Parts: sequence; structure tokens; C-alpha cells
Amino acid sequence: MSDDETVEEYLFKIVIIGDSAVGKSNLLSRFARNEFNAHSKATIGVEFQTQSVEIDGKEVKAQIWDTAGQERFRAVTSAYYRGAFGALLVYDISRRATFDNVARWLDELNSHSDTTVAKMLVGNKCDLENTREVSLDEGKSLAESEGLFFIETSALDSTNVGTAFEIVIREIY
Ligand code: GTP
Ligand code: MG
Repeated sequence: MSDDETVEEYLFKIVIIGDSAVGKSNLLSRFARNEFNAHSKATIGVEFQTQSVEIDGKEVKAQIWDTAGQERFRAVTSAYYRGAFGALLVYDISRRATFDNVARWLDELNSHSDTTVAKMLVGNKCDLENTREVSLDEGKSLAESEGLFFIETSALDSTNVGTAFEIVIREIY
């Protein structure tokens, strides 16, 4: 390829949502920087990272937004969702309450999104098999009934983290 040839680029916004401490920020840091923090602090406001992924030989850039699960730390909700083409709805497989709240996060996403959004239900912390409270089948059937993709991940041991983001990016693209 010559230097002056135009390289096609795509930039897509993806949001990560879900209850506090389900591992949203660690999924993002694992994906974008291959980093995990066992003592991460609750997110305040909004952070984002841009990450390039190669899809079918083309460079696709995802701008991934991460916000606080705690209501009192959240930034303006409508701005967070505006222009998003993809979303990861995250719960913690070892805390059932975070799974029960997925429906509320989905409502919020649906009421604020202005376009069709590729949605992935993510059961994070699948390394915590011993303290699991939500079965794989429960996750699968919720995703099926709501028309979401579904995957279990571990930001701690890296299981499926790249795949979760790549499925959403590929679907948007
Ligand atoms: P808020 O910013 O408050 O919304 O939380 P968050 O969803 O961003 O959670 P965060 O990534 O800060 O992780 C919360 C805690 O869970 C931290 O102690 C992490 O180390 C831990 N954690 C995150 N992902 C995993 C995982 O896959 N497995 C295990 N065992 N722990 C995890
Ligand atoms: Mg966070």
C-alpha cells in the first residue's frame, strides 16, 4: 500500500453499563491495556478508551465508555448513551442482585438510545465458580428472551474479554 493511499477507518462508540463492582472498569482495562486491578476504586463520572481492532483486514476503532454503576457517581445519562452503537450489559455471576438489575439497565439503555444498538449481556467473574449464584443457563435464557448476545467473562483471568468486545464491534461494523 502506498503512503498516500487513503486508509479507511471506522470509529464506533460502545458503552459499558451494569451495577457497581461487577467489573466494568476491569473489563475495559483488560481489553484496552491487558491490565487488571484487584483493588480498583469505584468509577466517578465517565472514562473512555479508544481501542483498535482489525476486522476483515480493516482497522476498526472502538471508543469504549465506562461509567459509574452507583447512581450518585454517574454523569449525565443522556450524554453517556448518545451516539452509542454497541453496549455491554454486565452483571457479576457471584451476585444475583446484579443479574436481577439487568432489566433496569436494559430499560435505561433502550429509552436513551437513538439508533439500533448491538447489545451483549456479559456475566463477568466466571473465575468465581465456587461462589456462583447465577447459572450459565439463566444468563443464556435472559439474553435469548431479550434479543441480546451472551457471554461469560473473567477480567481477572482474561477469559472471553476480547471476544465480548469483538462480537459487538463486528456486529456494528
Ligand atoms: P463501578 O465503577 O463502581 O461501577 O464498578 P465496576 O463495575 O467498574 O467494577 P470494577 O471493575 O472496579 O471491579 C470491582 C471489583 O471486582 C474489583 O475489586 C475488581 O478487582 C473485581 N473484579 C473485576 N472483574 C473481576 C473478575 O473477572 N473476577 C474477579 N474475581 N474479580 C473481578
Ligand atoms: Mg468502574
